Amino acid sequence: MRLSGLALLLISLTLSSTLFCIHPVQCDHGEEDELFQEINKYRASLNLTSLSKNENANCFANEMAGEFKGEACTNSTGANTVPGTEPQFSNYPDHLTKCHLNVSNTRDGSVMPACVPGLVPSLVLDNFTRSLYSANLNDSKYTGIGIGSQDNWIVVVLTTNTSQGSFVPETDDNSSSANVISQFGFIYFTLLFLAASFFFS
Ligand SMILES: *[C@@H]1O[C@H](CO)[C@@H](O)[C@H](O)[C@H]1NC(C)=O
Ligand SMILES: *[C@@H]1O[C@H](CO)[C@@H](O)[C@H](O)[C@H]1NC(C)=O
Ligand SMILES: *[C@@H]1O[C@H](CO)[C@@H](O)[C@H](O)[C@H]1NC(C)=O
Ligand SMILES: *[C@@H]1O[C@H](CO)[C@@H](O)[C@H](O)[C@H]1NC(C)=O
Ligand SMILES: *[C@@H]1O[C@H](CO)[C@@H](O)[C@H](O)[C@H]1NC(C)=O
Ligand SMILES: *[C@@H]1O[C@H](CO)[C@@H](O)[C@H](O)[C@H]1NC(C)=O
Repeated sequence: MRLSGLALLLISLTLSSTLFCIHPVQCDHGEEDELFQEINKYRASLNLTSLSKNENANCFANEMAGEFKGEACTNSTGANTVPGTEPQFSNYPDHLTKCHLNVSNTRDGSVMPACVPGLVPSLVLDNFTRSLYSANLNDSKYTGIGIGSQDNWIVVVLTTNTSQGSFVPETDDNSSSANVISQFGFIYFTLLFLAASFFFS
């Protein structure tokens, strides 16, 4: 009985970690997922619609983060940049192509890089909600979001639901909160079962 309980625990742990990793994005980049949820809480506090994940924007955000990677954080980079002085990358079009995008469907989008040593979640959130970037987060025209990070850099890309800013969304409305809930339920049930099997053995 004891052995089968242990086996059950092992099996359930394996299963639940597999479930957790169905979306690799959520697996590897906790900061990104956390920022995604915090931004939507911020939007909710302003009675704005929540932003849905956009895979192409996500891809593009990662590409941009790769460009900034290695650059030091200063008081004139990232969220502290004076608008209009952001660096322009010559290989911008290549990054668009890599993410199945082109200038026509990204024109109305918004790319916001931030530099925070160690990507400390609360500081990262402040960099978006307490800077000039908040003007974009406050804007009801944005409906989608992509987030990418490399090193100390995290990039948020906002998309619209118009053809000039759609980033050609693939609908990826994964029910991450539902996943977590069902998983807690599963683990809880397993522990209960395990406890019961010890009790009755
Ligand atoms: C959001 O909506 C609620 C209920 O309609 C209202 O009480 C609240 O003042 C609104 N908040 C903002 C920031 O508009
Ligand atoms: C940025 O940092 C430099 C050096 O630390 C300082 O001299 C400058 O005043 C700062 N600028 C702003 C706008 O805070
Ligand atoms: C962008 O892609 C669309 C659809 O694939 C195409 O019609 C359009 O010509 C492209 N625009 C540019 C500037 O490449
Ligand atoms: C963004 O993060 C950096 C690094 O932690 C910090 O120095 C800066 O004050 C933050 N900016 C905002 C607007 O929160
Ligand atoms: C965005 O909205 C928040 C909350 O209403 C406000 O504090 C902030 O100043 C706004 N940002 C801009 C750039 O207007
Ligand atoms: C686009 O978003 C706006 C604002 O959220 C909404 O009012 C509108 O119905 C949306 N249009 C489409 C085609 O989804």
